Amino acid sequence: MANAGDPIGIMDSGVGGLSVLREIRKLLPYEDLLYYADSANCPYGIRSPEEIRDLTQRVATILLQRGAKALVIACNTASTHSVAFLRQLLPHIPIVGMVPAVKPAANSTRSGVVGVLATDATSRAPALQDVIERFASDIQVLISAPPGLVELVESGKTESTETSTLLKNHLDPLVAQGADAVVLGCTHFPFLRPLIESLYGDKLLIIDSGEAVANQTYRVLDANHLLNLKSTPGSLSIFTSGDTQQVGLITQKLLKMDSVPTVKFAIKI
Ligand code: DGL
Repeated sequence: MANAGDPIGIMDSGVGGLSVLREIRKLLPYEDLLYYADSANCPYGIRSPEEIRDLTQRVATILLQRGAKALVIACNTASTHSVAFLRQLLPHIPIVGMVPAVKPAANSTRSGVVGVLATDATSRAPALQDVIERFASDIQVLISAPPGLVELVESGKTESTETSTLLKNHLDPLVAQGADAVVLGCTHFPFLRPLIESLYGDKLLIIDSGEAVANQTYRVLDANHLLNLKSTPGSLSIFTSGDTQQVGLITQKLLKMDSVPTVKFAIKI
């Protein structure tokens, strides 16, 4: 039986989910957090739906074994392919998932054209098609899946020329087709927001779901009487299936931490 003092388990294929974790920390500063970066299997976005489901299930199991009271699948790729399956498998565990934020983009566009930057697997997910049909049927949604962009963020290259060129190669055609908003449909991409802003200024409204996922996490914990009521700062424990030193350095950079956090190795899956 989970209890309110237990940690929240947050997962991603790598460091991308830290863009969601930082929003959860802002909103729920007293919660203890367990973060699992499945870096040994990153990227998920080039994998089949079956592989993605299998990896997500294994990571969920690791987080639950370490005492998580709820799970946040801080990865659009893992979420769009696995959340329904996980909820069936773990009916008593509160699970927060995410889909690219097409709805707010559809509500904000003036041109009636929006872009979605996602991984290849997310771009093919029925869950994405579903939100497009439900919330954006009257606008044009252009999906782009830049190969290699996740890996560049994984290696900390959030401002490099290589990253800028890859982004331009994929965003320029969307802007040329009239897109005035872009949905960051992969949790690695919010770390590219400063670069996208420097390239497109106010030509592109940038939409990401980190804050909405944090709000949903709050609601789900509250509804399940699982909010931590202590008033001392929550702890952060980071695990990876990959290189602990590398994940520590990149985490420090992405979360603008004063020092390199300790990252522990957790079973390679
Ligand atoms: N961060 C992930 C997402 O939100 C996936 C990156 C990957 O492993 O391909 O889609």
